[in-house]
Amino acid sequence: MRTQVGIIGGGPSGLLLSQLLHLRGIDTVVLEKHSRDYVLRRIRAGVLEHGFAALMREAKVGERMDREGQIHEGFYIAHDGIKERVNLKELTGGNTVIVYGQTELTRDLYEGRDRLDGIVIHNAEDVKPHDFDTSRPYLTYRQGVDAVRVDCDYIIGCDGFHGVSRQSIPKDKMREYERVYPFGWLGVLSRTRPVSPELIYATHERGFALCSLRSPTLSRYYIQVPLTDSVEDWSDAKFFEELQRRLPEDVAAAMITGPSIEKSIAPLRSFVVEPMRFGRLFLAGDAAHIVPPTGARGLNSAASDIYYLYHALVDHYTKRDDAGLESYSRRALARVWKGQRFSWWMTALLHRFPDSSAYDRRLQETDLAYLFSSQKALASLAENYVGLPF
Ligand code: FAD
Ligand code: PHB
Repeated sequence: MRTQVGIIGGGPSGLLLSQLLHLRGIDTVVLEKHSRDYVLRRIRAGVLEHGFAALMREAKVGERMDREGQIHEGFYIAHDGIKERVNLKELTGGNTVIVYGQTELTRDLYEGRDRLDGIVIHNAEDVKPHDFDTSRPYLTYRQGVDAVRVDCDYIIGCDGFHGVSRQSIPKDKMREYERVYPFGWLGVLSRTRPVSPELIYATHERGFALCSLRSPTLSRYYIQVPLTDSVEDWSDAKFFEELQRRLPEDVAAAMITGPSIEKSIAPLRSFVVEPMRFGRLFLAGDAAHIVPPTGARGLNSAASDIYYLYHALVDHYTKRDDAGLESYSRRALARVWKGQRFSWWMTALLHRFPDSSAYDRRLQETDLAYLFSSQKALASLAENYVGLPF
């Protein structure tokens, strides 16, 4: 098989790039390790910035997002028994975010690929990129007993943090930067009316909590838990009890609890690899960088990589202009690091660190007090939360 752009990973990054390129007449093949059902069962991101939404529309898969996604003009930070609002719209001169689940967005992308007869190969086993330091890279994979080779001009690694792409780059040709946090997020999805129409990020001496949502009838809640905990340690009743303890009294009293339809623990990590390109292999999204979910940046950072790569590849194929490909890693990383900084800051502000001293606690309290006493500090938070320009 031959294609122009071989994409490893059929998550949001890989599917979005493939759909955008297809619409500009550029051939792609997407190799995804898992089944479509498996990919669609993963409950992850919920908050999209407008740059991401604009790309979904450009990819002609934004219709349902615009119909069913909810525009959020602000969110709350709860602390010391009260909640204070961050008015995103006012603070950014009109910008907002869209609450629309990653599951739905991925479903829309799959349907978009189907409509155009895009090639997405599921259950592709043992995918490997080869010869990407030459001008003739290729991919191999197995499907059952068949071994398949895909020749291509470029390989794009969109295969997430645990994927094969980054691991295929010689260790001495890249540098990894990492911070692992000593806690995770236990998340519950529940078919109940969300406690608040806007997100509430709560900091409490017992730990962080987040009240999010997917729709007016679907709640998504998280609590900070030690890494040693497992899902089995948390019955639904115990989860909701702990969540309510970390929220202001009026919020806790208004909460409707119900059985969980999904429950999982996500470890928190900050990670960046540099550069994001090695020869004809380009990394994008979680394959190159991840953030703790506190600032809602992960998927949105992936979208900006895809934006740069999409334009770079279109320039290459339509104008024989390689400037975008040459500058991809530098441009993508400049934005990625701003997302890292913001996610680290939000995480440090709102979580309880097991080894924090009384001094660290005072700094956290002062950071919060400063935030809500300074329009400039709030504006900086809002500007980052709605997404910096691509
Ligand atoms: P993935 O979604 O990881 O997709 C990679 C794909 O590659 C997968 O389908 C995988 O099966 C496939 N794959 C892996 N290895 C191989 C292989 N060897 N061969 C072939 N295929 C392979 N981000 C936000 O912006 N906003 C939020 O509100 C937000 N909330 C989050 C909440 C939680 C609890 C978590 C865990 C994450 C959250 N994120 C959020 C982050 C967001 O989910 C990720 O950044 C996003 O999934 C990245 O997309 P991706 O396509 O780059 O990678
Ligand atoms: C979510 O709804 O899953 C969500 C929302 C905001 C975040 C992280 C996760 O910061």
